[in-house]
Amino acid sequence: SPHLEVLADHASVAERAAALVIARLRGGAPVTLGLATGATMTPLYARLSEACCTGAVSFRAVTSFNLDEHVGVPPHEPGSFERYMHEHLLDHIDMAPGHAHLLDGMAGDLEAEAARYEGLIAAAGGIDLQLLGIGANGHIGYNEPGSDFASRTRQITLDPATRRANAASFLKRSSPPDRAITMGIETILAARAIIVIATGRAKAKAIAAALEGPVTTDCPASALRMHGDVTILCDEEAASLL
Ligand code: GLP
Repeated sequence: SPHLEVLADHASVAERAAALVIARLRGGAPVTLGLATGATMTPLYARLSEACCTGAVSFRAVTSFNLDEHVGVPPHEPGSFERYMHEHLLDHIDMAPGHAHLLDGMAGDLEAEAARYEGLIAAAGGIDLQLLGIGANGHIGYNEPGSDFASRTRQITLDPATRRANAASFLKRSSPPDRAITMGIETILAARAIIVIATGRAKAKAIAAALEGPVTTDCPASALRMHGDVTILCDEEAASLL
């Protein structure tokens, strides 16, 4: 079952997560990281960027794959996960050109895009360490409730609750996107190790359901209990219903 660590606050969670990632990258052997987006990840990426700037860690041997992307949102727009990744991490670290892989939500053929991505992950030898946030409804990546545990990368329709949660990132649009392309639950569970980060009271129900509720597609994050190497880092608020 997952290894749970409860820390005081978001800053401590980010600090601990950064330490785990940096430990994994020490030594300089090739590592394939799975990367997540969202407000939860921002302080972690700030610490990793800082550690790279000071020479405490290098990303030269890292290949990365992002979890998901909104469909139909150009990469320069707010709310694009590609833009988020450049702003918060990729533009500040020493990754080799072409080693950061992102799903193309502007692709004309999303099925082909999903197949391309799965092919790239396989060619990289799979994901060594996957970073994950969790949605208030228990989603991982954009695998909304009901997602098959055997799902691979594909297009998905976002829940109304997720669209509402995303609305702030899309203030310039009349409405947030209703579709995304996301790694599947099986894609995520194929990672050799997974670190989940959850902070704030809004995540408490999802964390309790994921860890203590039934293992069910109603809570996609409950699928993590079928994996042998999951570390869950929560602040006290996110852990408050455990
Ligand atoms: C987002 C992403 C997830 C993320 C989750 C939580 O929309 N698709 O990868 O983990 O929802 O986001 P946040 O950290 O902003 O709460």
